[in-house]
Amino acid sequence: MNDLDALPADFVWGVATSAYQIEGAAAEDGRSASIWDTFAHTPGNVDGGHTGDVACDHYHRWPEDIELMKRLGVDAYRFSIAWPRVVPGGAGPVNPAGLAFYDRLVDALLEAGITPFPTLFHWDLPQALQDRGGWAARETAEHFAAYASYVGAALGDRVTRWATLNEPMCVAWIGHIEGRHAPGLSDIGVAVPASYHLLLAHGLGAQALRATVPGAEVGIVHLVHPCEPGGDRYADVREADVRAATRYDGHHNRWWLDPVHGRGFPADMIDVYGVDLPERPGDLDAIGVSLDWLGVNYYNPSVVVDDAGGPPPYGRLSPPAGTRRTMLDWEIRAEGLERMLLRVSADYRPARLYVTENGSAWPDTVGPDGRVHDPERAAYLDEHVAACARAAGRGAPVAGYFAWSLMDNFEWAYGYDARFGLVHVDYATQVRTIKDSGLRYNDIIRRHRDRTRQVA
Ligand code: IFM
Repeated sequence: MNDLDALPADFVWGVATSAYQIEGAAAEDGRSASIWDTFAHTPGNVDGGHTGDVACDHYHRWPEDIELMKRLGVDAYRFSIAWPRVVPGGAGPVNPAGLAFYDRLVDALLEAGITPFPTLFHWDLPQALQDRGGWAARETAEHFAAYASYVGAALGDRVTRWATLNEPMCVAWIGHIEGRHAPGLSDIGVAVPASYHLLLAHGLGAQALRATVPGAEVGIVHLVHPCEPGGDRYADVREADVRAATRYDGHHNRWWLDPVHGRGFPADMIDVYGVDLPERPGDLDAIGVSLDWLGVNYYNPSVVVDDAGGPPPYGRLSPPAGTRRTMLDWEIRAEGLERMLLRVSADYRPARLYVTENGSAWPDTVGPDGRVHDPERAAYLDEHVAACARAAGRGAPVAGYFAWSLMDNFEWAYGYDARFGLVHVDYATQVRTIKDSGLRYNDIIRRHRDRTRQVA
């Protein structure tokens, strides 16, 4: 029995990135500013004052990056399309030069035998739309649907699998309550309508894609965490911490998963936020549009304690002492991924589940031997792939795994020091080096393929 045997023979092995984190070329070929350009250029928002102006220069180096994917041996590439490249004003005229970039990328991926798996929105809202109210304005969802149909019309003859949004939770809550992400607000009265319009954008965008691309397989990507009470008081969990963990679960998981599965917004959380939803007739049906697949991103579990004086959901993370953690202090626990795959499968019955992101950050360097030795990332990868296989063995319809990330990139408020890549990027020279974990991933993929070939 091989540890990967439970994964289906057509399991998709992929890598993931997003536009603002890798592309650079921030002002080229008609791209306009996104909220992340504005946020990163505001002193004090991003560690080291880093911005995505150049990032991995993928906009110019994409042929080399596709070669790297070939060397890793992946089947699929999950990337995002930059709305401010395609529709610089957010609404209104399309920029043909912006679309042409993704057109070339898709052609070259297909030529390399790699399936393109685009996401339409990975946080880089055109600044022009933020100036008109951002996600708190209903029109933003309508403009998203128009943008989705432009991209669908341009690429839909070659692209089948589409994600509407990546982790709307982070946009709404980290960007509008915690203020640590663009647009940098701390206002629950804005955050709740923003969360609602993000999910409305998903629904309207999915409809627009399906109207433009016959046979499109549409999904959404959510970040999931198992939430547990405890922190350093694991041995002595208080009732208040149990309630905090339930709120945290509502805030991070249920608020996002329930509505897209046609269940509406969780009533307990509407009470916690105390903000009316900007609901209009028909919206909940649009948000609950059927999904061809569901993407889950998993990094760590959330061990939560009550924080009555903090912002909603009035709980904060408190990972127990002595647990293994990454350089971002995120607890490493692969069993949490298995648990979430099983829970999501049981609760929502998705047709197909992809692990659309999973990975760990470490401060990697190129050694004197010219290699990057990153045993912690390789171990994290092994453990989490094994967790997927265990979940598949227990009936979860896990259809693919995308490592975050293809290469080191702009890690939002942490800047460039937190490295998540299977490929190291030297930002001064833009030299790429496949890390030991990238070689390990190639090994895992080959092992699975060899095994499924033998069985067939
Ligand atoms: O880098 C991010 C990505 O953009 C969204 N999901 C989590 C990753 C690691 O923080």
